[in-house]
Amino acid sequence: MVNAANANTANTVQNIAVIGSGTMGRQIGMAAAVAGFTAAVQDVSAEAASAAEADMRSWLDGRVAKSRMTQSDADAAGSRIRFTTDLADAVGQADLVIEAATEKLEVKRSIFAQLGELAPAHAVLATNSSTYGSSEVAEASGRPAQVCNMHFFNPALVMKAVEIVRHGGTDADSTATSDATVATATAVVEAMGKQHVLLTKEVPGFVANRLLWAIRAEALDLVANDVASYQDIDAAAKTALGHPMGPFELMDLVGIDVTYDIRQAAYEITGDEKDKPHPLIAEKYAAGDYGRKTGKGWYSYE
Ligand SMILES: NC(=O)c1ccc[n+]([C@@H]2O[C@H](COP(=O)([O-])OP(=O)(O)OC[C@H]3O[C@@H](n4cnc5c(N)ncnc54)[C@H](O)[C@@H]3O)[C@@H](O)[C@H]2O)c1
Repeated sequence: MVNAANANTANTVQNIAVIGSGTMGRQIGMAAAVAGFTAAVQDVSAEAASAAEADMRSWLDGRVAKSRMTQSDADAAGSRIRFTTDLADAVGQADLVIEAATEKLEVKRSIFAQLGELAPAHAVLATNSSTYGSSEVAEASGRPAQVCNMHFFNPALVMKAVEIVRHGGTDADSTATSDATVATATAVVEAMGKQHVLLTKEVPGFVANRLLWAIRAEALDLVANDVASYQDIDAAAKTALGHPMGPFELMDLVGIDVTYDIRQAAYEITGDEKDKPHPLIAEKYAAGDYGRKTGKGWYSYE
């Protein structure tokens, strides 16, 4: 149970509901259960929910096999998490709901409208969206001051950072994310053993992805202007800056199709030409060279 130091500002959180049991939702749910919260992970797809449950069992078994967790801790974490297709059941007792459903605004708005009806009045409602700021879904919930982004990174069980993004300016505006909402989200992130990064206003890409995009854009321009090869730029990122991977290796890992789609979505939101997919990315995208997943991107893979 989390009770932040200043109980006047943060809610006590014991029960967390996660909406969507895909790549992100299942791991956010597991991270919550491992940290001692009760977690209910809901998905509209029964297949997705049972795949997530099987994934959770094999992850816990793997932790025990590698002596990273005792059998009794794994059993306890497993008993704190459940998977369901019933939204009312998942959120009925929730103190915090984290939405990690498909990245479509109409899907998210519909979920937030239902959360406004089904979640307890005190519950904080967060979206894990990488693209949409919580201002896009806050009004639909009928309790906009209790809404924010909690942006986890993939894989959520491993990655330490969680960006918490406020919408709507200051607490003086009754529809803006309240200080209490931020305090609740922050206390939960800390209880999960993660590092929160607070954004006091919404910007596309939040902080970490903007840093990534800036490095990637510069790397692509250096190649486009024949200043250095992509291999040498990757070498510089690793050996001069200490990055674990170079920007081109990372694009191949994430997928050049994903990189293209993210930039295209950013361009559609901002209308700013500099947000468009870089011509070198557009070229690889059109050729179907998506990186590791297709065997060829910047590098070739067996
Ligand atoms: N994948 C990443 O690297 C990553 C990283 C950070 C944030 N995100 C964000 O997390 C969210 C989920 O991404 P993902 O990669 O886990 O997607 P995913 O496609 O793996 O999973 C989405 C899940 O949501 C379910 N779903 C769809 N509509 C639903 C509804 N109405 N109610 C409940 N469940 C519903 C789907 O059945 C699916 O299982 C997105 O908003 C994305 O921007 C993704």
